[in-house]
Amino acid sequence: MLRKKIIIGNWKMNKPPSKAKILTKALSFAVPEDREVVICPPFVSLDVVKKMLKGRKIKLGAQNMYFEESGAYTGEISALMLSEMGVSHVLVGHSERRAIFHETNKEINKKLKIALEYKFTPVFCVGESLEEREGHMTEKVIERQLREGLDGLKKSDVLKMVIAYEPVWAIGSGQTATAKQAVEVHKHIRAFLSRLYDKELSEEIRIIYGGSVKPDNVDELMSKPDIDGVLPGGASLDAAKFTRIVGFKAK
Ligand code: 13P
Repeated sequence: MLRKKIIIGNWKMNKPPSKAKILTKALSFAVPEDREVVICPPFVSLDVVKKMLKGRKIKLGAQNMYFEESGAYTGEISALMLSEMGVSHVLVGHSERRAIFHETNKEINKKLKIALEYKFTPVFCVGESLEEREGHMTEKVIERQLREGLDGLKKSDVLKMVIAYEPVWAIGSGQTATAKQAVEVHKHIRAFLSRLYDKELSEEIRIIYGGSVKPDNVDELMSKPDIDGVLPGGASLDAAKFTRIVGFKAK
């Protein structure tokens, strides 16, 4: 089963519409046939980016979403709203959402369910903190995030997702996990999903890596068969760097 490589740029809370326009314009590369490219601007820039991507193969993603469809939830954005904006992917459970906004596995589970209902591709983010890694808790923490996040979801639902392994200590720190460290966790995620669902699912699902992905480490990460893509943050804000990442050369 061929797992198509996917590169997702998470702009985080950067690029208001005026700047989003400039950055999108500078992403003038053609998306290679063998890979999928998604960019996730902040909510307020989705519209302008969508218009600029017309006729191009770059897909549009959102960075978050609330799990209710409408109502008295001041400040929140629903799946219904995002579907009208032409979004195809949505990040769910990013570590910044978990740490800064106290998102729980239960809420993440609800978000994954509503994202699937609206036919988005959920990009389900998991990862351990430095403290957890140093305490040899990485596998336990990720297993719990997966078990609780995927609670009640069928195999056919999970197969529509992308799992993103983002070790918290590697995000924005310049300290990338080594390809070996990333592969170890990706393999563990596959083994765990094989137990939770089955072997077929574990072989078909895409697992991508995020955390200080840059032009100078992307080729090595992408050369690993267990790494199906990358999720750069900072480097996706620089057109030349993002273009280089999209054009990774896997050995
Ligand atoms: P950096 O690439 O800036 O470390 O961010 C990674 C990330 O959090 C992507 O979602």
